[in-house]
Amino acid sequence: MSIPAPEASAMDLALVSPIEHAQITLDERSPLKLGLMASGTGSNFVAIADAIAQHRLAAQIQLLIYNNPEAPVVEHAQERNIPAHLLNHRHFSQRETFDQEIVTLLQAADVEWVVMVGWMRRVTPVLIDAFPDRIINIHPSLLPSFPGIRAIEQALDHGVKISGCTVHLVRLEVDSGPILIQAAVPVYPDDTPARLHRRIQTQEHRIIIQAIAQIAEHHRLQNLLIP
Ligand code: GAR
Repeated sequence: MSIPAPEASAMDLALVSPIEHAQITLDERSPLKLGLMASGTGSNFVAIADAIAQHRLAAQIQLLIYNNPEAPVVEHAQERNIPAHLLNHRHFSQRETFDQEIVTLLQAADVEWVVMVGWMRRVTPVLIDAFPDRIINIHPSLLPSFPGIRAIEQALDHGVKISGCTVHLVRLEVDSGPILIQAAVPVYPDDTPARLHRRIQTQEHRIIIQAIAQIAEHHRLQNLLIP
């Protein structure tokens, strides 16, 4: 028998990461300069852009790089007057030359930290070495479980009872690297991939902002220490 479940419940909230309660200082005098990379819908892009516009995040999106001409994320950028650059990976014969072009664009835009919000391409050392420990990714599972592109389907196939999302520093292996923040959500017996993804994304939109806020604060304190 399957138990009908509400879309967002008290249990969802009970499972969120305790890091939410960390105290963050909002200093908008020196916003963290971000480069965002996306392949698709762009709901995480919107969450970040809106948090900045609403003065909840001391950051600035210098540039959006997207790789699919049809990706809806570009419309969100245009609506918000955020520079967006299409780099179609299909026009590159090697991953390294594609990544080098990304690095050139990010550096020209004076980007300090790179945020992958639904970037569905493997990365090479060319990109990782250009921004050492300065690239984060959001993934719809509790890593290290279920890396890769079918994370939600795999979680359902395995019958997990709790799933969630992870923000982590990017390493060469897909969806690997030191974990910064996670949030958990319940999985209900009658969940479909779309339904579970929606529940996870509600938490993604929260923890991606939390991660960037912590990075921005760390960055601000480091700058204070430099004479
Ligand atoms: C997000 O759920 C993100 O976790 C996932 O892509 C989606 C993008 O959604 N990323 C990965 O699977 C990375 N391996 P969005 O375009 O609505 O932000």
